[in-house]
Amino acid sequence: MHPCQNRIALRGPSLTFRGDPFQIGDTAALHYEADGLTLVEAGKITGFGDFEQLRSRLDGHQLTTYDNALILPGFIDTHAHYPQVQMMGAYGKQLLDWLNQYTFVTEQQFHDPAHARHVSELFLDQCLRAGTTTASVYCTVHPSSVEAFFEAAKDRDMRMIAGKVLMDRNAPPALCDDARSGYDESEALIRKWHGQGRLSYAITPRFAPSSTPAQLEAAGALWRRYPGTHMQTHISESRDEVDWVRRLFPEHANYLDVYRYYGLTGPRSIFGHAIHLTEPEWRHMADSGSSIAHCPTSNAFLGSGLFNYERALEYPAPVRVGLASDVGAGTSLSMLQTMGAAYKVAQLGHYSLSAPRAFYMATRGAAQALYLDDRIGSIAPGMEADLLVLDLASTPLIDFRMRYCRSIEEALFVQMTLADDRATRAVYIAGKLAYDAKETMAGNNAYALEAQAKKNAG
Ligand code: GUN
Ligand code: ZN
Repeated sequence: MHPCQNRIALRGPSLTFRGDPFQIGDTAALHYEADGLTLVEAGKITGFGDFEQLRSRLDGHQLTTYDNALILPGFIDTHAHYPQVQMMGAYGKQLLDWLNQYTFVTEQQFHDPAHARHVSELFLDQCLRAGTTTASVYCTVHPSSVEAFFEAAKDRDMRMIAGKVLMDRNAPPALCDDARSGYDESEALIRKWHGQGRLSYAITPRFAPSSTPAQLEAAGALWRRYPGTHMQTHISESRDEVDWVRRLFPEHANYLDVYRYYGLTGPRSIFGHAIHLTEPEWRHMADSGSSIAHCPTSNAFLGSGLFNYERALEYPAPVRVGLASDVGAGTSLSMLQTMGAAYKVAQLGHYSLSAPRAFYMATRGAAQALYLDDRIGSIAPGMEADLLVLDLASTPLIDFRMRYCRSIEEALFVQMTLADDRATRAVYIAGKLAYDAKETMAGNNAYALEAQAKKNAG
């Protein structure tokens, strides 16, 4: 193989985090190189720093230079439902009605492997287009929906976490498994997919109301049996849901206690939303090393409430929090848009979320929430080379506005407030160019041509 084929170098303004800005402050945490160089070999980062200082190591690397851009770790979306891309923007309901009226109708279509494969491909391509290189993903109750997703992710060599949804009550019969079949099907999927390439399995009880105690018990037993897997579920998203859990599980002190009791809290567990937590729940989140996926566009869209990030940081050990789209209740796969929404949620809670902190929550902080920060989320030697190149002038308005930015912090804030997937100039997956905006322009045209051809034929 020609040396250049697995050795690449990216030159341009670059950004990563060397620590947690919530702990050590924004300035100490941010590592910005105005003229940065990232060296990559065989899918891993081998060097990162100032171009002049590293240029002697360039030999044998294929160099690409990006101007008016920002190179950063690929974004990480800590909670999304791939089948729900086809029902984003469904009008007029709050959580429980929205689930019954839209979600449970849509998800029934995923018994069809071809449909699941088609939507998986679309979801992953849209993730790439948004600059997201890793996500923690809910499939549907159908094992084939997981097969389809993992196959599509494997084809793209993307680091993805996913799992079969477990639910055995309070959902249409066509979407219900049972405690035994849910366990067996999940176990077969774990054996086949967990640790294959860059894929990891998440045991996925949808949320406490849609699982019987027997199913939650089985999910806990499965996780104990395969402790390297992840566990994902929802918690305390809407007040009606919290009341419902209180009625369904009257013997438990609170919502999180249900999950705790069945062995579903701890490292590598990630809880979507966590808006209406009580003090004991916050404490158990921290003490157990459980993580939260903060889903601001979804919470606004469904009118669920305002996540309290400030509270997550209190207590001697703060809770790990990553940002998430929660598509299809979320209204965008773009983590830039998600950061902008997180800022607005914070403002409504009367505190401010700085741009470095928001970017952290979508990169290294999200990786920490998923317990993957030793592999992804930073630009540093040894890390997997999932990299995003942002165009800092992706629209004429942003181009104009950026001329008035005087610092990297200001520039980041303008990007998270005004930009979206149009800002993705390129994405590298394990050191390979996986998305290039220039080629996609051609791709879009091809799509238009195909549509035109169909129209002509019809
Ligand atoms: N709670 C249980 N299932 C879901 C889901 O699919 N989306 C959201 N936003 N909340 C849920
Ligand atoms: Zn969700």
